[in-house]
Amino acid sequence: MSDLRELYQEVIFDHNRNPRNFGRPARFDRSSEGFNPLCGDRLTLYIAFGEDGRVAQAAFEGQGCAISTASASLMTEALKGRSVEEAEALFQKFHGLVMGDAEIDPATLGKLQVLAGVREFPARVKCATLAWHTLHAALHGEQHVSTE
Ligand code: FES
Repeated sequence: MSDLRELYQEVIFDHNRNPRNFGRPARFDRSSEGFNPLCGDRLTLYIAFGEDGRVAQAAFEGQGCAISTASASLMTEALKGRSVEEAEALFQKFHGLVMGDAEIDPATLGKLQVLAGVREFPARVKCATLAWHTLHAALHGEQHVSTE
């Protein structure tokens, strides 16, 4: 295993063991629940916007595998300060990355590129995108979404 791959795995382990922005915040403007029927895991995402219309806080709760938890944790960090359009664009880009879209340069996704390796494991793509589909639903005012 290359050093880079080990580093990526370490970031994923860290965000799974110690997820950032975990728990239901006291105040939020949008929320949505994502469901992965392949495993039964669920995740709820909460988003609070600032007066400038940008994401002031993104948080999540729920139980999932290491990949889904790490992906949700990294996503909530990456969303802070983004407008709705920027958050939607990030969803599209991340989705393309894990689906193996060769047009997407992983380096443009910053820390999120640690999850690029899931594209080699189709069953894990749903895990990595659970939080992201939930984000997409929340941005569109939908309360529930399934990865299927
Ligand atoms: Fe359920 Fe990964 S096994 S989200």
